[in-house]
Amino acid sequence: MLDLTDVSRRYGRKRVLEGATCQFGRGLTLVIGPSGAGKSTLLRLIATAEAPNGGRIEWNGAALPGARQALRRDLGYAPQAVDLPEDLTAREFALHIAALKGLDPAAADRQFGAITERVGLHADINNRIGSFSGGMRRRLVFAQALLGAPRLLALDEPTAELDGETARNLGALILERAADAVVVMTTHLADELAPHAVAVLRVEAGRVGPA
Ligand SMILES: Nc1ncnc2c1ncn2[C@@H]1O[C@H](COP(=O)(O)OP(=O)(O)OP(=O)(O)O)[C@@H](O)[C@H]1O
Ligand SMILES: [Mg+2]
Repeated sequence: MLDLTDVSRRYGRKRVLEGATCQFGRGLTLVIGPSGAGKSTLLRLIATAEAPNGGRIEWNGAALPGARQALRRDLGYAPQAVDLPEDLTAREFALHIAALKGLDPAAADRQFGAITERVGLHADINNRIGSFSGGMRRRLVFAQALLGAPRLLALDEPTAELDGETARNLGALILERAADAVVVMTTHLADELAPHAVAVLRVEAGRVGPA
């Protein structure tokens, strides 16, 4: 269970989140809202990539920053935009992430193979990321987030730029993980996953509330 209480985040004088209070339990929670509303900001706070300026974030009842290491051990995070190491192959990158997460390399390699098979990236895992299209990068970022079957999965627009069939394949993997994990996923569209979500939250005017 992930709890945010009265969380605020400013960039300079710009107040992005202000008094945001919300809870995420097991299952898929979709986060929607207009462009620039603060959806990615919310996910960066959840993923401990940034700290809030105020308020409280708790993971399984323990507050950040004290619980940061515990949260990170449980976390899979797919940022909306990320600089990938262009000279590595997808598989080398995945094994690097697996090492950072402390996962068994052979098990992680098998898991990466299985995930990339499901999202249509498997034929390319031994190619350099520098040769990848936008959609291939998106799927790679998604696949690394799933490594180690994380208890907390933060996905920032994982299906953007993907065709309908590939998006559905990702959706199936997301719902499988949501069976025993807290999954927070931002999306722009009225998402096909909405009927399967335990909640849909909307970020707007600094607040996070029911959609
Ligand atoms: N590092 C930063 N420095 C300054 N301003 C920032 C920074 N990150 C985000 N912002 C601002 O915070 C606001 C929220 O940005 P955020 O990326 O969280 O929105 P979003 O809801 O994810 O938008 P989108 O749907 O376009 O992805 C925007 O006005 C953005 O310009
Ligand atoms: Mg965003």
